[in-house]
Formats: sequence, structure tokens, C-alpha cells
Amino acid sequence: MQRDLFHQELPDFKKAIIIGASSGMGRELARILTRNNYRVGITGRREHLLKELYNENPAQYIYRAFDIRDLSKTAKNLNELIKELGGLDLFIMSSGIGYINLELDSEPEFQTIDTNVTAFTDVITFAYRYFLENKKGHIVGITSIAALRGNKSAPAYNASKAYQVNYLEGLRQKSVSLKIPIYITDVRPGFVATQMAKGENLFWVASPEKAAKQIYRAIRRKKRKVYITKRWRIYAWLIQLFPAFMYEKI
Ligand SMILES: NC(=O)c1ccc[n+]([C@@H]2O[C@H](COP(=O)([O-])OP(=O)(O)OC[C@H]3O[C@@H](n4cnc5c(N)ncnc54)[C@H](OP(=O)(O)O)[C@@H]3O)[C@@H](O)[C@H]2O)c1
Repeated sequence: MQRDLFHQELPDFKKAIIIGASSGMGRELARILTRNNYRVGITGRREHLLKELYNENPAQYIYRAFDIRDLSKTAKNLNELIKELGGLDLFIMSSGIGYINLELDSEPEFQTIDTNVTAFTDVITFAYRYFLENKKGHIVGITSIAALRGNKSAPAYNASKAYQVNYLEGLRQKSVSLKIPIYITDVRPGFVATQMAKGENLFWVASPEKAAKQIYRAIRRKKRKVYITKRWRIYAWLIQLFPAFMYEKI
């Protein structure tokens, strides 16, 4: 068959959006996806960082700078990104914040809830409804090992991550009961060397590159949940075994 000289064939990219791709695991995941035949819509508030990432591969990135806490703008921004991408196969929610809050000040607690609970719910439900309409899709939430128990130094952070884990499980159950292939992957990192890794006595700290590689493998396998890095599975098992009266004394 003769090729149409006037029509340049565009590679058949898969399409993804990453919320929180301006730094950390989100940025590394974006890089991996572009190397694996994805066109990626990248978001975050720090536009200069999104622009830097975009410049690495303008053919495969589009970017939008916005704050997910501004609930009135999120749907518009995401609809525009999906339109520009020409659809959506994969939605990754990596945005999150957390504070060590020994004084139990209200401000950091409520900021954490605004981002990790309210805005999280807003973007995740947007993605789920989109995939429901299109009868397929894959949602990935970067939650945390912190979801598994409470924490005296950052109570809102751990509680917000428990909310995320539970929310994602609810959506997974919904997909199964509706018999619609919308896959939900819950990614639970331990410590990863990003600006989010706060506090002393950090251990088993992975680079964001290594973390992203393992996350991508879990995405390809459509895993329900994954600990990042793998050895955090052991910690997860142990921390859940701890009886409350012992855990309280740590
Ligand atoms: N690093 C760790 O040890 C660790 C461990 C367990 C779980 N996690 C989770 O992993 C996820 C990714 O964090 P990371 O470690 O890669 O740290 P990071 O480099 O700080 O990435 C966080 C991302 O969230 C975005 N973000 C924060 N608030 C936002 C807002 N209001 N609107 C839009 N985007 C916002 C940031 O972008 P802008 O600042 O540009 O908006 C940034 O891209 C988080 O959910 C975190 O809770 C991290």
C-alpha cells in the first residue's frame, strides 16, 4: 500500500495525566511513561518546574499549572487536558502534602485535609466518572505506608492517607460490582528521597527514580496495591501486628 505523503503518521500514544508531576515520584513517573509510549498531561502548582519537564520532550508532554485545592477550576483544567491528549487511559494522583505538627496547630492539620482528602476526592471522582463514561481506565493513587497506623507527630497526614486507601478500595469494589474494567492501584511508598520525606530517623530511603520504576511495573501489571520499595511489605506486616498498647508507647 502506498503511503500518503501528505499525512505524517502520528505514533499511537497511550494517554496519561499525572496530578503532581512538578517534582518527586510524579515527575519520575512522567519520564518513565514518555519513554514507554505515553503522551502525558503533567500538573502541579509550580509552573516553572512543569515547563522544565515539558522542555525535555515537548512532543509527549502537555502541562497545566493549577492548585487542586481550588475545586471550582479542577474539572475545567482536566477536561482541557483530556481534550488536548485526545482521550485518557491512565490517571495518576501523586499530589500530597504533610507536616510534622508536634504542637497540633490547626493550620497544618486543615491544610493537609484540604489537599489529601478534599482535593484528592475531587480529582479521583473526576477521573472515575470519566472512565465510567468511557467504560474503561486505570486510576493510580500514591497513598503511603503511613495509612496503616496513626502517628503522634503527623496525625492528619496518617489519617488522610488512611482515608485515601479506604476510598480507593471503595472504588475498586464499585468497578467489580459494575463489571467495568476500571483498575485501581494503591501505591504505598515507605520513605522516598523527595521534599515530602520529613523527620529524623528515616530508613530504607529509596530514590524517586527507583520508586517510580517499581510503581510503573505495578501499573503495567494492574496491581491492586504495592509497597514501594518492596521491602516495605515486611514493615507493613509488622506494624499491623503491633497491639495497640505497645504501639501507643512508641
Ligand atoms: N516521599 C516520601 O517519603 C513519601 C512516602 C509515602 C507517600 N508519599 C506520597 O507520595 C506523593 C508524592 O510525593 P513526593 O514524595 O513525590 O513529594 P513531592 O516532590 O513533594 O511531590 C508532591 C507533588 O504534589 C504536588 N502538590 C502538592 N500540593 C498541591 C496542590 N495543592 N495542587 C497541585 N499539586 C500539588 C506538588 O506540586 P506543586 O508543589 O508544584 O503544586 C508535587 O508535584 C504524595 O502524595 C506523598 O504523600 C511520599
